[in-house]
Amino acid sequence: MARVLVTRRLPGGGTDPLVDAGHEIVGPEADDRPLAHDELMAAAAHVDAIVCLLTDRVDDAVLHAGSPRLRVVANVAVGYDNIDVAAAAEVGVVVCNTPGVLDETTADTAFLLMLAASRLATEAEDDLRAGRWRGWNINDYLGLDVHGRVLGVVGWGRIGRAVGRRAAGFGMTVLHHSRRPTGDDGYVADLDELLRRADVVSLHVPLQDSTRHLIDARRLALIGPHGVLVNTARGPVVDSAALHEALRDGVIWAAALDVTDPEPIPPNDPLVRHERCLIVPHIASASRATRAKMAEMAAANLLAGLRGEPLPTPVNPDVYARR
Ligand code: GLV
Repeated sequence: MARVLVTRRLPGGGTDPLVDAGHEIVGPEADDRPLAHDELMAAAAHVDAIVCLLTDRVDDAVLHAGSPRLRVVANVAVGYDNIDVAAAAEVGVVVCNTPGVLDETTADTAFLLMLAASRLATEAEDDLRAGRWRGWNINDYLGLDVHGRVLGVVGWGRIGRAVGRRAAGFGMTVLHHSRRPTGDDGYVADLDELLRRADVVSLHVPLQDSTRHLIDARRLALIGPHGVLVNTARGPVVDSAALHEALRDGVIWAAALDVTDPEPIPPNDPLVRHERCLIVPHIASASRATRAKMAEMAAANLLAGLRGEPLPTPVNPDVYARR
């Protein structure tokens, strides 16, 4: 029997398979709040495995404070920029994520954001709720069409491709950029060229040193005054200050963000206050079915790791070779 730290309550009976296999679950706290960094370090010292969320910073300090028995860290998310994977490899810990199960739900959200931002849905809804809507007017809320426009997908992984499939159904022309040629139609090798040609830009790259502030002031200008930026990737992929300036100065038409930098974004942040910036609180994968599948996948990885078997979806499989 192993001891497993589960940092937050999981949806859909997420910890049941661990309990059924006879493992002891430690946490989450009764109030289900995120663990502070020192609490995470202290808890890691006494467990064989950790199931964590993208809000948990599993850094070098946590991993080095971890018990010598610590074998697996299962992130219930596809992105794993919250985990120091190199430090995990140093201490022989396999890290896994939840790829594949959230692609379609996340792509739905990207489309929701793209449509809502292009058609000024939140601006219009805000007016209605605040009692400012005085009735139909032919000149009100004139947004931009989505059909017939050019979508530029940045990052052609599973989620980017799922967004591309939806866009084709909406009569959009789909271009995509990725660092390596994809062999698929619509590939644009140069990111700047993609941004120049696209009307709507949707980001689907992981957060890494090379993608931090990938979309900066210069690149926002390439998107242009009728351009819409959609970010369901990670907040720091976009330079937030530059985005605010671009919206303020009409450099781009609108932005729609599922992710922000920082998270949570304070309500007085200039982006929150900007009417052309639609922001939802990191809900891209938040359907009941998908979140349950993510929890299931994390549990399946963890059970395999605790049995000493290869994990179904490790992100640092090289750890096996070092053991
Ligand atoms: C959500 O942002 C995820 O990475 O799963």
